[in-house]
Amino acid sequence: MTTTAEPTLKTTPEVGGIGHSRKRVEDARFIEGRGNYVDDIVLPGMLHMAIHRSPLAHARILSIDTSEAEAVEGVIAVVTGELLAGYNLAWMPTMSGDTQAVLATDKVRFQGQEIAAVIATDRYIAQDAADKVVVEYEELEPIVTPQRSLEADAPLIRDDKEGQETNQCYTWESGDKEATDAVFAKADRVVTLDTFYPRSHPAPLETCGIVADVNSATGQATLYMTSQAPHAHRTVFALVAGLPEQNIRIVSPDIGGGFGNKVPVYPGYVVATAASLVIGKPIKWVETRYENLISTGFGRDYHMHGEMALSNDGKILGLRVDMLSDQGAFFSDAQPTKFKAGLFHIVTGSYDYPVAHVTTRGAYTNKAPGGVAYRCSFRVTEASYMIERLVQNAAYEIGIDPAEFRRKNFIKKDQFPYLSPTGFVYDSGDYEAALDLAMEMVGWDEIQQEKEQARAEGRLVGIGLASFTEVVGAGHGDEYDILGLRMFDSAELRIHPTGKAILKLGVRTQGQGHETTFAQIVAEELGIPSSDIKVVEGDTDNTPYGLGTYASRSTPVAGAATAVVSRNLREKAKKIAAHLLEASEDDLEWEVGKFYIKGDPDSSVTIQDVAFAAYTNVGEGIEPGLEGVHYYDPPNMTYPFGSYIVVVDVDPGTGQWKVRKMVAVDDCGVRINPMIVEGQIHGGLTEGYAMSSMQHISFDEQGNCIGANFLDYLVPTAWETPRFELGETVTPSPHHPIGAKGVGESATVGSPAAFVNAVVDALWHLGVRNIDMPVSADRVWAAMEEAKA
Ligand code: CDP
Repeated sequence: MTTTAEPTLKTTPEVGGIGHSRKRVEDARFIEGRGNYVDDIVLPGMLHMAIHRSPLAHARILSIDTSEAEAVEGVIAVVTGELLAGYNLAWMPTMSGDTQAVLATDKVRFQGQEIAAVIATDRYIAQDAADKVVVEYEELEPIVTPQRSLEADAPLIRDDKEGQETNQCYTWESGDKEATDAVFAKADRVVTLDTFYPRSHPAPLETCGIVADVNSATGQATLYMTSQAPHAHRTVFALVAGLPEQNIRIVSPDIGGGFGNKVPVYPGYVVATAASLVIGKPIKWVETRYENLISTGFGRDYHMHGEMALSNDGKILGLRVDMLSDQGAFFSDAQPTKFKAGLFHIVTGSYDYPVAHVTTRGAYTNKAPGGVAYRCSFRVTEASYMIERLVQNAAYEIGIDPAEFRRKNFIKKDQFPYLSPTGFVYDSGDYEAALDLAMEMVGWDEIQQEKEQARAEGRLVGIGLASFTEVVGAGHGDEYDILGLRMFDSAELRIHPTGKAILKLGVRTQGQGHETTFAQIVAEELGIPSSDIKVVEGDTDNTPYGLGTYASRSTPVAGAATAVVSRNLREKAKKIAAHLLEASEDDLEWEVGKFYIKGDPDSSVTIQDVAFAAYTNVGEGIEPGLEGVHYYDPPNMTYPFGSYIVVVDVDPGTGQWKVRKMVAVDDCGVRINPMIVEGQIHGGLTEGYAMSSMQHISFDEQGNCIGANFLDYLVPTAWETPRFELGETVTPSPHHPIGAKGVGESATVGSPAAFVNAVVDALWHLGVRNIDMPVSADRVWAAMEEAKA
């Protein structure tokens, strides 16, 4: 069921502009199995690569013997870090400004780290030979928690870094410490919460990979890569490999899900490219599932302590948060340069209070590097979880209904634009409206009564809420950059003589439906039917520069660029129309798809007439052609929000819990394609449910990764996934050209707290105050037992 606000449609279904649930054009090829993924690419003479990885989490490398591997028939070369060092490629810069070993030379720093790569005529030969590489180690103490990592006697993990004396990776703070401390000193009450957002993995259906094709004669490097950010990766490759940037072409073909996993640059990409350069043949490397889960792009792993200052009548007065992040062995995700903990300082949430102070520390550990924007905008998932769990506990401690408590403390509709105590300017919001709708949809009063009744009968029913605020669409470029690259994005639009168009974007879809929705923006602005517009992304030679698709930034940034370039072309089209109609530009009116003379609607030309004239009869003094490019540097981010309510039944005998009802009201401003938005929300809610109930990549004391397969790392199927009921409110972003906010990540950001809040609600009267994710039956059981004791 979906409760929707009726969209105002400016275009007919045939034109298919904004607000139409146009069917996804990309699906035809996916459903027919005719997509083109990296592993589908086969080039003449192509070789295959496999990687030998460390079985230990922390050890000094004493020797590497590749002779047995080299002797395997079909092996062309075995690459080690020592060999790469000869080309100055043993280490590479990361997207967060750290360095990372491409192939380990001195030490291994996490289980699964890359040590040697075998190039062979066949994938299986390469893998068999990789297993024959023999490495002699001297074992070192593995550090598997950030707490141990920061102890004074912990061994130094990054002894490769000059001047690095501890395992601290970064520190960062936000807000006003003095003012916050002063408020806390005088507050009636302080409520605290310690919680852990466990390490998880984006686990896209398609793992990461590359086909590197470097032509030694021309110097042209064509890299087919699973890349969410092909342009930024091209620049990183130019910097790492010293290849001239004009000779690097990154093609990111169809991508089978990214979720942040395909943002970092991985050692495998660099080794395959270097090997192709030296050997002179194309080389393919595609990760196995095990390699993907053990070594690439983790998410989360945040240990958080929160304190909320309150008045006795339930007003939030201030917030203090201290966060410790487990970054793994290298700081290799992509955070904006100025914000080491991403946008975690949005942790103040949807609530109005004058002061907050946030401190963050990152620690190196002997785990795979992580911290990617996994279905969230730079660490907002962790922040949203923290504040929504804390708000629920604060409401109970004060003795106010959690919905009432939220309502009392919400930033009110007339307070926008709202300056948060950590410096964000929230562009718009109507938090009460979203909460009202969610409560109406769930049947708030009846469900409360039912809960009481159940409790009287010894059954456990819980109701959990989360009223989250997301922040998506970085820049502005003055504030937000990756390695100095301003976080703008771009759109190039060419209208052909027959009135059909091609739209080229700097972002890269991984399943979100860009080929469908971005055409709808052009259709809305120019009246060209969306089915006449081809959307092209993911080829750096053929699209304008952009920072890529992650953190829900495509609609806020590239969507805005698309609207603006369309409007710019409409201005030019108007000049040509004036020439065709022999009228002054000032006398023309625009109605979707045509210009007409004011007061004389029959004297008109269509956008298709104008397109033809642009190449055949353009008029004196007007430049021929109808194409343009726009680089959009957003003035601010967008702030989608929502209210989610979850009802659960907890089995008092086993601790198992089941979702009885889940209502999700989202506000992402103007929806370009409501059907795709719903799909995004369904996906996000499923992820949120998975993290709150079953997903966790954990490590034993030796740093062995537990859960590097789909028997241990549980991806929810349709069987476990609850039924979701969706609702929407529409609060357009005032600065966005079409009033849209991002949505891709909101549901994963918003929902985990609602699920956990529901379970804790069912158990609060028994004395349970917190259960860390994943909230498995045995954890629920243990929490009940502990509360009893
Ligand atoms: O950056 P990413 O594509 O992951 O996220 P997004 O910009 O939030 O968009 C996800 C999908 O939802 C895209 O196909 C968007 O065009 C669509 N969308 C929409 O139709 N209306 C919105 N207000 C926001 C997103």
